[in-house]
Amino acid sequence: MNQPLRVAIIGAGNIGSALMGGILKAGVTTPDCVFATVKSQEHADDLARNYDVHITAGGNLAAVQNADVVILAVKPSILPSVLEEVRWGLREDRILISVAAAFPLSEIEAQIGRRMPLFRAMPNIPVIVGEGATCIAYNDLVSDHQRAIVEAIFRAVGVVCFIDEDQMHAATALSGSGPAYIYMVIEALINGGLKMGLSHEVSTRLSEQTVLGAAKLVRETMLHPAILKDQVITPGGVTISAVHELERHGLRSMLISAIETATRHSRSLGEKLVDKLKQTNAR
Ligand SMILES: NC(=O)c1ccc[n+]([C@@H]2O[C@H](COP(=O)([O-])OP(=O)(O)OC[C@H]3O[C@@H](n4cnc5c(N)ncnc54)[C@H](OP(=O)(O)O)[C@@H]3O)[C@@H](O)[C@H]2O)c1
Repeated sequence: MNQPLRVAIIGAGNIGSALMGGILKAGVTTPDCVFATVKSQEHADDLARNYDVHITAGGNLAAVQNADVVILAVKPSILPSVLEEVRWGLREDRILISVAAAFPLSEIEAQIGRRMPLFRAMPNIPVIVGEGATCIAYNDLVSDHQRAIVEAIFRAVGVVCFIDEDQMHAATALSGSGPAYIYMVIEALINGGLKMGLSHEVSTRLSEQTVLGAAKLVRETMLHPAILKDQVITPGGVTISAVHELERHGLRSMLISAIETATRHSRSLGEKLVDKLKQTNAR
């Protein structure tokens, strides 16, 4: 029988602990094979109350040393110092995954000073409830088997799409930031219901379920949303009067522009981060 996968999670915060919970629930590995780290002892104690895994405050090098898969889930600003700390514990035949936003694969390689199978993932916050959308890019050293392992890890917390690294900014703008746009839509629907006299509770339940149900119908029917929208519209009916109002205010155009702007902003932040890293390395 194969040994369970040994997984190190460096930075078990929002994303790291969601991944930890997801892979344990999905049986990707077993609790005794998970080595998680955080910064503060208080957070480590808190996690230890909920998970039966190895958890330490610090101790990153020890955590990665025997791991088959290392997941780096710390903030991008501290990733260089964490890479410096763990680089000698990383083995070239193992898998390294970074979820740090805007941090390119080439910079991770530069920081660890050698090449190894490397993945860059952009999950989104619904990974916390197992309904995330994660985009993943990887370098040319990755085998099909390693790709399948990484897919299984992120599928434990939602949907996975493999993309080229140069599409990461667009993915960040769409699905990374996307939950914020949808929360705004849900908030507005709730307010609409309130304005028309529905209670807070009824308005909230109807709004959240309408978004959830509509998304599920897109997935399960695999029909284009325009076709599904048309199915709700009756001639001279209620829905078309609201759809006309949304078109008048440019709802679709607004969302397209939002993603275009966010993609540009992500690219510019990425370029600034790389410039800063290069300056630091040159010193
Ligand atoms: N949140 C999102 O929607 C999202 C989406 C896509 C990608 N990401 C990326 O995911 C990464 C984590 O984001 P997050 O929202 O999960 O942040 P977070 O909740 O702040 O988690 C970061 C964790 O790193 C730990 N940490 C800090 N310094 C450390 C060190 N030296 N060694 C070990 N652990 C250390 C922190 O420990 P303490 O708790 O003890 O301070 C914290 O638990 C970021 O790089 C971000 O760009 C986030």
